[in-house]
Amino acid sequence: MTETFRIGGDRFSVAPPPPLGGEASGFVVRSGAGDYEVRLAAGQPGPAVQVAALLDGLAAPLVVADEVVLAAHLPDGVGPAPCHPVVASEATKSLDGAVAVLDFLAGERAGRATTVVAIGGGVVQDVTGFACGVYKRGLSWCYVPTTLLAQADSCIGGKTAVNFRRTKNLLGLFCAPGQVLSHPGFLSSLAPADLRSGLGEILKLCAIGGEGCLARFEDGLAAALAGDLDVVRSLAALSLAVKWPVIEADERDVGARRALNLGHSVGHAVEATTGYEVPHGVAVTLGTLVESELARRRGLLEAGVVDRLTRSARLLVTGTEAAAAATVAPEALWSAMGGDKKVEGSVLKLPVPVALGAVELVDLPLDARGLGELESALGCLASLR
Ligand SMILES: NC(=O)c1ccc[n+]([C@@H]2O[C@H](COP(=O)([O-])OP(=O)(O)OC[C@H]3O[C@@H](n4cnc5c(N)ncnc54)[C@H](O)[C@@H]3O)[C@@H](O)[C@H]2O)c1
Ligand SMILES: [Zn+2]
Repeated sequence: MTETFRIGGDRFSVAPPPPLGGEASGFVVRSGAGDYEVRLAAGQPGPAVQVAALLDGLAAPLVVADEVVLAAHLPDGVGPAPCHPVVASEATKSLDGAVAVLDFLAGERAGRATTVVAIGGGVVQDVTGFACGVYKRGLSWCYVPTTLLAQADSCIGGKTAVNFRRTKNLLGLFCAPGQVLSHPGFLSSLAPADLRSGLGEILKLCAIGGEGCLARFEDGLAAALAGDLDVVRSLAALSLAVKWPVIEADERDVGARRALNLGHSVGHAVEATTGYEVPHGVAVTLGTLVESELARRRGLLEAGVVDRLTRSARLLVTGTEAAAAATVAPEALWSAMGGDKKVEGSVLKLPVPVALGAVELVDLPLDARGLGELESALGCLASLR
């Protein structure tokens, strides 16, 4: 049976997840900038062989790659293609980081014939996509996502951004890649924190997708955390199946897509105020919980949903991360939330779940009343420590 979910007045169907046997599969994302294929590779051939095949098929590739990924999965390099290694961190995801990529592109005399291939997680994706978007008003690029977060979420949708003046993603562009090659083999080397981070974004998308999606997430969570890559791969595909119809319907983020920002107003504030000590997807888990609790306190959401999200969050957030978030003064979080792109006049348009499979945008006033609501909702984090 097709699962459906609701964002405001718009109804969506969870796209049927592509078959994930021993064969590669995939789907095509319709985009105003040109449709692009997302190829979900099977385990064999391994990442190095498939990246080499991708590069072989391009006339003039230039590679921007996470240096950790280069060392772990591409020890023989990327063939003759010039390569710019990146140390992935929120500090790299900055104008300076973009300038380093732009220097590389200019040094290699990138032009119309060039295709840039970004290999890495969300940071490499964001900084490379941003640089490709501004260089000569747009260079073609392809993306090879190597973290779970990137394979399950960021690889589709065409958003790119860099952090600026202590605000996450303040500068950005829509600049979709020409194709995406997602290979599960990359995930074998992920640090546990990055696995939990990816699962945090998947939890958010499954809560949006509805009861069936969340149940599948809950069923797979323990195995995924134990490193079962088949389960991880199927949860990533499920997550894309929720995101895909929404980004196609609202690529420019002016309507329903804003709901995919669930957990991010508080999450981005947690990241910024803890000096990025809490990984992005883990901060999103904390944010999803706090924003759901805020909805519960307004009488919009049943307590049972918050309890279920809390049970998953206990497995995704370490005590140290929960404590780091809990020690931030609510006023500091509140001030960081004031820079959110969803602020409209004197209110923050906050996406909150009103049920599993139903999200509404509510107005959170940017005054003492709103701060009071945030402060009360933050109390739910105590149960994670
Ligand atoms: N553009 C979008 O649509 C979008 C969506 C969601 C998140 N994001 C952004 O993505 C970023 C988070 O992405 P992320 O979690 O992928 O972070 P990341 O790119 O910083 O990667 C996390 C860590 O994993 C390492 N790594 C990458 N691939 C690896 C591999 N295969 N094996 C071992 N280590 C590996 C990196 O070196 C880094 O230390 C945030 O900045 C977030 O804002 C962007
Ligand atoms: Zn995110």
